[in-house]
Formats: sequence, structure tokens, C-alpha cells
Amino acid sequence: MTDINKKRVLVTGAAHGIGRLLATNLANAGAELILWDIDSAGLSQVRADFIGGGHKVDVYTCDLSSREEIAAVAERTLSESGPIDILINNAGVVAGKNLLELSDRDIEQTFEVNVLALFWTVRAFLPSMLERGSGHLVTVASAAGLAGTARLTDYCSSKFAAVGFDEALRLELKTLNSRVITTVVCPFYTATGMFDGVETRFSWLLPILKPELVAKRIVRAIQRDRRRVVMPWFVYASWPARLLPVSWFDALMSFFGVSHSMIEFRGRAGEASENAT
Ligand SMILES: NC(=O)c1ccc[n+]([C@@H]2O[C@H](COP(=O)([O-])OP(=O)(O)OC[C@H]3O[C@@H](n4cnc5c(N)ncnc54)[C@H](OP(=O)(O)O)[C@@H]3O)[C@@H](O)[C@H]2O)c1
Repeated sequence: MTDINKKRVLVTGAAHGIGRLLATNLANAGAELILWDIDSAGLSQVRADFIGGGHKVDVYTCDLSSREEIAAVAERTLSESGPIDILINNAGVVAGKNLLELSDRDIEQTFEVNVLALFWTVRAFLPSMLERGSGHLVTVASAAGLAGTARLTDYCSSKFAAVGFDEALRLELKTLNSRVITTVVCPFYTATGMFDGVETRFSWLLPILKPELVAKRIVRAIQRDRRRVVMPWFVYASWPARLLPVSWFDALMSFFGVSHSMIEFRGRAGEASENAT
């Protein structure tokens, strides 16, 4: 069991969505918050909300697509806020386009934020965790890191990488006899706006998740030292399905509506243009 009370917890992508809700749940559990996001105004708003409640909150603007910026902000964080007990790599981006519609920059951005930032943040904060003999590294991946989906080549491959990053790191930390632990989080579509417009065929098996529930489950997993959070449970079905011939696997993905789930995707861009009209 990990007691979060008085622990210094860094959440990336904390200005909106799951990250913002994680901050609330963590603050309620007594954590000292260190929040990173690219959106300075959003971060200031979050900080104002928490300060009123008497919580300790440090915020840092950081563009996680830049290795140099991550290094500089990590150095500032360590010197101003102190060593981190729990690092939650939550920030993520999605383009939601077919492979040939993606710009080169879309693909680079997806990998910079969803994959490379994991390396740069963990390499910045893991040394002090190893020195102190404790720490917790949380990677918010996705169900898209366990099964592919049409119109998500960049996103799925980045989340498969995130799942692999967590697994390899977990085993590496064991070989080092380290008490630093890792948790990988693989939620199905979640109603934050990031995947606005996506559809699910059997909502009783694969519901669009409520972000409040996802955030709550992540905090509970940290408290209980759980190594993996997959939600809903039906996402696990993709693993035994891989024992089937590929054509059967594809037919199942189509039957359950996963292959076509992105057809009406609008995402944040759609949300912004709707707000403007
Ligand atoms: N929503 C889903 O259906 C779903 C499902 C499974 C997994 N996930 C994963 O869960 C995590 C959180 O997703 P969410 O739905 O909460 O997304 P969200 O609502 O879009 O929040 C993501 C946060 O990350 C920030 N961010 C984006 N690019 C950044 C960058 N370059 N540097 C720093 N911060 C950046 C965003 O800032 P701006 O808003 O200013 O861009 C935003 O505050 C992501 O890793 C996502 O892949 C989401």
C-alpha cells in the first residue's frame, strides 16, 4: 500500500481532462501537487482552484514535445519543489487521421508527446527515486496500446510503445532490486473531448468511460501498488483473441465495432470549431 498523503506527485497534462481530475483526487488524498502542462492559462486556473482549498500546488508550463524544455523544467522542478515521489505521465495527443492524411509533423508530435516524453521525464526523476529507494512511475497509455484501430496508426503505435516502455522498465527495475514501482494504465475511449465523436457498438461491453472514473481508478491503483489498470475488463479479450488466425481477429475487431469506432471522430479540433460557431 502507498500512502499518498504528503507525497509529492507530478502530473503531466494536468490542465484538462483526466490529468485535471487526477489532480483533484490526489489533492483530496493529501498529495502535494506538481502540475505540468503546455497551457499556462489552464494551469493558473487549476492552481487558483486548489490554492483556495489550502492545497500545496506548484505549476510549471512545459511543452512535452521538446526534450530541451523537459530537461529545463525538470531541473527547475527538482530545485524548487524537491524530489518527486510519484510521476504520472498523463499528457497525450491524438491526430485521428488516416496514415496518408497525417502530416509529418502530426506523426512526430504524437511520438514526441506520447512516447519520447516518457523517456525524458523518467530519466529526469528516476535517479532521485533510486537514491531514496522508493518511487512510483505511472504511464497513462490506452486500450489503443493493446489493440490497433483504423485511423489511429500514429496513436496506436505510440501507445503500444508506451505499454512496452512500462513493461521493460518494470522488469529492469526488478533486475536492479529497486523498490521503485510502475503502473501502466490502459483505458478505452474516455469522454474528455480528446476523442470527441468516436462511437462504440456494444456500450455494455465497451462503454465510453467517464473521466472521473478513470482518474479515481488510477489513484486507487497507486494506493494499492497495482501494476496494470485495464478498463473496462472486456479490453483484456484482445489478448486471447490474438491466438486466433489474423483474419478471425480482424473479424472480431470489426464485429465489436472497434475498427469503425473512429469514423465520426472530431476530437478537440471539432470541439473548437463547434464552440466558434
Ligand atoms: N480520452 C480518451 O479517450 C483516452 C483514452 C485512453 C487513454 N487516454 C490517454 O489519457 C491521457 C489523458 O487524456 P485526456 O483524454 O485527459 O486528454 P486531454 O483532455 O486532451 O488532456 C491532455 C492534456 O495534455 C496536455 N498536453 C497536450 N500536449 C501537450 C504538450 N505538448 N505538452 C504538455 N502538455 C500537453 C493538454 O493541453 P492542451 O489541452 O492545452 O493541449 C491537456 O491539458 C492521454 O495520454 C491519452 O492518450 C485518453
